[in-house]
Amino acid sequence: MCGIVGYIGKRDAYPVLIQGLHRLEYRGYDSSGVAMISNTGELNVYKAKGKVEALEHFAQSKDLNGKIGIAHTRWATHGEPNDINAHPHCSQSGKFALVHNGTIENYNVLKVALLKHGYSFVSETDTEVVVQLIEYIQDTNNCSLFDAVREAMKQIVGAYAIAVIDRDNPDQIIAARQSSPLVIGVGDDEYFLASDATPIIEYTNKVVYLNDGEIAVINRGEKLHVFKIKGETETSINITELKMSIEELEKGGYPHFMLKEIFEQPKTLADCISGRITSDGKKVVLSGVICNKEKFLNANRIIIVACGTSWHAGLIGKHLFEDFCRIPVEVEYASEFRYRNPVVTDKDVLIALSQSGETADTLAALELAKKSGAFVFGICNVIGSSIPRATDSGCYIHVGPEIGVASTKAFTGQVTVLAMMSILIGQMKGTIDKATFEKVAADIRRVPKLIKEIFKMDSQIKDLAKIFTYARNFLYLGRGYNYPAALEGALKLKEISYIHAEGYPAAEMKHGTIALIDDEMPTVVIAIKDNVYEKTLSNIQQVKARNGRVIAIVTEGDDVVSKLVDYTIEVPEISECLTPLLTSIPLQLLAYYIAVNKGRNVDQPRNLAKSVTVE
Ligand code: F6R
Repeated sequence: MCGIVGYIGKRDAYPVLIQGLHRLEYRGYDSSGVAMISNTGELNVYKAKGKVEALEHFAQSKDLNGKIGIAHTRWATHGEPNDINAHPHCSQSGKFALVHNGTIENYNVLKVALLKHGYSFVSETDTEVVVQLIEYIQDTNNCSLFDAVREAMKQIVGAYAIAVIDRDNPDQIIAARQSSPLVIGVGDDEYFLASDATPIIEYTNKVVYLNDGEIAVINRGEKLHVFKIKGETETSINITELKMSIEELEKGGYPHFMLKEIFEQPKTLADCISGRITSDGKKVVLSGVICNKEKFLNANRIIIVACGTSWHAGLIGKHLFEDFCRIPVEVEYASEFRYRNPVVTDKDVLIALSQSGETADTLAALELAKKSGAFVFGICNVIGSSIPRATDSGCYIHVGPEIGVASTKAFTGQVTVLAMMSILIGQMKGTIDKATFEKVAADIRRVPKLIKEIFKMDSQIKDLAKIFTYARNFLYLGRGYNYPAALEGALKLKEISYIHAEGYPAAEMKHGTIALIDDEMPTVVIAIKDNVYEKTLSNIQQVKARNGRVIAIVTEGDDVVSKLVDYTIEVPEISECLTPLLTSIPLQLLAYYIAVNKGRNVDQPRNLAKSVTVE
């Protein structure tokens, strides 16, 4: 969480920093701030509680000149969101300003020591301790800023990406990273710094991803230097070329990123599939799997670790791998797995599923499995992020930047990759027959077109949303492949509309949850024609018998369910294992329209951030 931006070069820093903060606002939006060294040598720091817009408003009458600066958008961990706790934080003398993404675990111990040395603190944050520590080290050792930052990083325990500037040296930024992402954009005699590449892409497509334990010296107009924090040697720099476009980062005429991303799914899934299923539909080409064939063929078990929406996609992965590969699968919340003492062996394959590739718990879970000798495979969206860099192999979902905090296109991308992987491994193992392989492969290719069909019901879903905006609670029921889709539908509604919603396996409802049903609690039932269709019909009748109001997601042409329920939304027929790719679409739209009707901030719901880099 939190986003940091930095700039040094020929341009005015402020517009670059503000635009960068807007791009990173999805990472946190409790407060924001900038620090710039003016052309006359002052260190100007401006901060404001709330969104970047509030900062812009506050700063408009201030001195905004300067060709070097750092900026921050915050998701509060230590200390409430207010102007004082907002970054950048300054050292006691006012000489250094620092921005930080991450959490410092030993900040209290360091703070007590610094208090004894006469330092005082104005904020409640862990970050202020870091900048004071840097000043203390420089004062006592009379060393350069680089040496002081390096020594401070050796003393702190925790996760960080930081950038520091020195009022007395307007030609340098020092940056360092440990467990939080940091990208350096390399322009023409100018450098950009950010938590991800989105603030950088409009200026340069050349970037350097800083690795854990590295510190960068960014001097105006000079070559970039990167060193290990622990160790003397300079490390070689690897410049990567970005493939992202600016259009992908704009709303493109939609009122919200979330709506844009929902409607983008036919294209993003076409991109995800592109080149991965041969034109004759007989082969799946996923090199990360093929090159590690033996690992999958010899796997005793697959463990999928993930959080939130990605965990829901993982549950669908379990069905897919068990159906087509006959490999036992466990799906774990990364945050639970990492703090247990799980039994993991070198015969296990661990799949880390993550849109951002930065989720701290997922990263820690995969590191734990790696230590036990498991083969670790990543399925991520953000290219060059921490998880793909920490895994043995993997596969990107290629759905483009997802900016709306509620995940939509990444979920369908993850399920699509899991489906392709499962039939590929099944084919390699001989556990899927040729006809099933070819049917599923052909149906995967039909998904983008079928999603477009579902969009024809957009206005019907919008009308339904009007009817149910009043509700205070919702129940979502599904079975088999669509139980995770029900969980995901409930999560979408909760996180953007703040309506309580519960996802449940339809048949489990009668063991307790059924007590909640009355005419005030709508139930959304996924009742498509699958192997438990008849059973789901009974579950619907159980809800109706208790005066429940039911919205059903049904297979096109189904006229049985429509007679039982209050409202239906049809989705086209497809292989059962791919149905969540279709049933999840109307649930995304329903949640979106209800949240809009309630006047919620759909793209930036309260208390949330897109990239969860805290534990
Ligand atoms: C919900 C949502 C979150 C994320 C979760 C994991 O819409 O987006 O639940 O799925 O925080 O994030 P990633 O996939 O980036 O690891």
